[in-house]
Amino acid sequence: MSNDEMEHLKASVKLPVIMAPMFLISDPNMVIRACETGIIGTFPALNARTADILEDWMKQINEGLDEKQREHPEQKIAPWGINFITHRSNKRYTEDLHLIEKYQPPLVITSLGDPGPVAEIAHSYGGVVFSDVINVKFAKKAIEKGSDGLVLVANGAGGHGGTLNPIAFIHEVREFWDGPVVLAGGMSKGEDILAAEVLGADFAYFGTRFIPAAESSAQTAYKEMIVDAQAEDIIYTDAFSGVPANYLLPSIVRAGLDPGSLEKKTEINFDKLNDHEAKAWKDIWGAGQGVGAVQEQQTIAEIVADLKQGYDAAKRKAAGRLNILGRR
Ligand SMILES: Cc1cc2nc3c(=O)[nH]c(=O)nc-3n(C[C@H](O)[C@H](O)[C@H](O)COP(=O)(O)O)c2cc1C
Repeated sequence: MSNDEMEHLKASVKLPVIMAPMFLISDPNMVIRACETGIIGTFPALNARTADILEDWMKQINEGLDEKQREHPEQKIAPWGINFITHRSNKRYTEDLHLIEKYQPPLVITSLGDPGPVAEIAHSYGGVVFSDVINVKFAKKAIEKGSDGLVLVANGAGGHGGTLNPIAFIHEVREFWDGPVVLAGGMSKGEDILAAEVLGADFAYFGTRFIPAAESSAQTAYKEMIVDAQAEDIIYTDAFSGVPANYLLPSIVRAGLDPGSLEKKTEINFDKLNDHEAKAWKDIWGAGQGVGAVQEQQTIAEIVADLKQGYDAAKRKAAGRLNILGRR
């Protein structure tokens, strides 16, 4: 990805934020609403339970965004993205790849495998590919295989979060990579976007903050639990999908399980079309450590307005501090 292309991507948003893809939560309506408010909206391809449904969703997003742009030519409508699982356990790999080629999402976010084949397709239509990574080894591999950018999933991130501290992680990555970087994990407020930028990120990735959005498909009790929860209510465990992920402890109790005696799930399962996996995520609710700062249920437009206000205020505050320091 050239510097010009990166500048073009940055100029296409009102706020350098990506609404992260979330299993069983994100859908086309959320994506359209996010892009309309000027942030990049994304969803996991496997949230559409069949390839036919996915085709409908991608059509709906392209048409929906075109229509909004026609209605409001002056408005900055951000690009959208799809999360594609590049692991061999993804039974829809070939079909979904074909749909990506047909509907040309401007951004493809890959998880768990070789981004090469999807990068070749995305590059053929002018799209970009960012890869989710939880450590430096995977970051180097993703770049080697043709990814244009990295989503650094640090500790405290909702779902399959990493274990690295975000500050340490981004510093190590910036030693060998000066291309696009998205920082993920525990971010909930507008000032977090500026913090990510100060550390060298181009975009901030927000998942948990959008779970209680009015437009989200999360159940009402899940939304309420997010609003009530604090960081200490988050548990990192490999008991549900075989690889560790962050979940809401009260949802485990609510499902009748004893959090003290959870056992590692022996089989690693990224096959999200599998009924057991879907059931686990339906009853055991994922969330990141940033829950404590999520204090109300809002619409996506309200969340983005809040983030923008916090971001602008943090910039003013930082500029004020620099002024004071400059006068010393
Ligand atoms: C409930 C839930 C489901 C998730 N599902 C996916 C997914 O299907 N694919 C994916 O790449 N990331 C998934 N994630 C991770 C998010 O995309 C993102 O990395 C994370 O939410 C960022 O951290 P935060 O929640 O602290 O903001 C999920 C996160 C949550 C909370």
